[in-house]
Amino acid sequence: MPGTYRVGVIGCGFFAPNHLNSWNELGVEIAAVCDLDEAKAKAAAERFKAARWFTDAATMLHEARPDFVDIITTMPSHRPLVALCARERLPVIVQKPFAPTYADCVAMVDTCKAAGVALMVHENFRFQAPLRRVREVLDRGVIGTPLWCRISFRTGYDIKTGQPYLFNEERFIVLDLGIHVLDIARFYLGEADSVFARHQRVDPRVKGEDMATIMLGHKNGATSIVDFTYESRKRPDLFPQTLVTIEGTKGAIDLGPGFQLGVTANGKLTVENAASPLRSWTSEPWHVAQDSVYHTQAHWLARLSEGREPETSGADNLKTYALAEAAYGSAATGQAVKPVES
Ligand SMILES: NC(=O)c1ccc[n+]([C@@H]2O[C@H](COP(=O)([O-])OP(=O)(O)OC[C@H]3O[C@@H](n4cnc5c(N)ncnc54)[C@H](O)[C@@H]3O)[C@@H](O)[C@H]2O)c1
Repeated sequence: MPGTYRVGVIGCGFFAPNHLNSWNELGVEIAAVCDLDEAKAKAAAERFKAARWFTDAATMLHEARPDFVDIITTMPSHRPLVALCARERLPVIVQKPFAPTYADCVAMVDTCKAAGVALMVHENFRFQAPLRRVREVLDRGVIGTPLWCRISFRTGYDIKTGQPYLFNEERFIVLDLGIHVLDIARFYLGEADSVFARHQRVDPRVKGEDMATIMLGHKNGATSIVDFTYESRKRPDLFPQTLVTIEGTKGAIDLGPGFQLGVTANGKLTVENAASPLRSWTSEPWHVAQDSVYHTQAHWLARLSEGREPETSGADNLKTYALAEAAYGSAATGQAVKPVES
């Protein structure tokens, strides 16, 4: 019964309103919010009707005793905060990117497993309505066996003003955005055993790469191209839309601009509108991303109440993270890299 759950939220920054609005809409009681910055914690408690606010996560967990925890901080804090939740035997959701290193990710999965608590990475792209719809068409089998896929996210939208920590990331767009797009490649075509990547840095103010093109060889023989940048000058700028083309033995799927979904089956093209609906708290153009937060959290609640592992569990996200690691390895060496298997 989702309505009976109580959540403790850690991190009340830029992205948190999407989580807090979703918890409110899902009928989850916000038992408490926490931020190192007292003003942010207080403001979030007031705006989203949290019963209490704190500036220390351990104190919040002891005093508010939520049923589960939602961590919406940046990645350096994820491992200690997840370890804290595991010690308190509390199921926990943690935002992407999972952690700064693969070893940190493995440690969090192991810690939660040993404590017997559920761990989900808030990997929300696969919960975007249009991207989910593509998966449904694949499941219908009308395009036959997928052979080739391109997943593309290209924008020039300024995401760095709202998230200034991104300027300093040594490993930037592959972990920040690519991690989502690589997850979609796995979602559609399954695991990959070969990764070849080229990275570019366009904005001189950032430390890491801000343009990447990655070719994945999937174990089932399919090939995918995953490309993304925050430095596209193309107009119209489609932020935050993800474009997808999948060609199969019998047909093709094409998710194009404006969420127009073309499906070719039996030589015939049909087109539908696969846009996300607007919610009371979402607005264009980011509604597709905001709506996916709602569905990610709804999925967590469903799996928590069923006692089943979420689709994007920590263990599952290790496989996506391994693709990102392999992309960095490939870009550095100019060679294709086999991702580590968990
Ligand atoms: N899934 C998505 O679509 C999406 C979109 C944007 C951001 N994100 C992710 O969300 C995470 C948060 O991003 P953001 O832009 O909101 O960051 P932010 O810096 O604006 O907010 C993070 C907040 O966490 C607080 N915090 C940090 N450590 C803490 C601790 N130990 N205890 C309590 N509070 C702590 C900070 O004071 C800050 O207010 C990042 O990992 C980012 O990549 C995801």
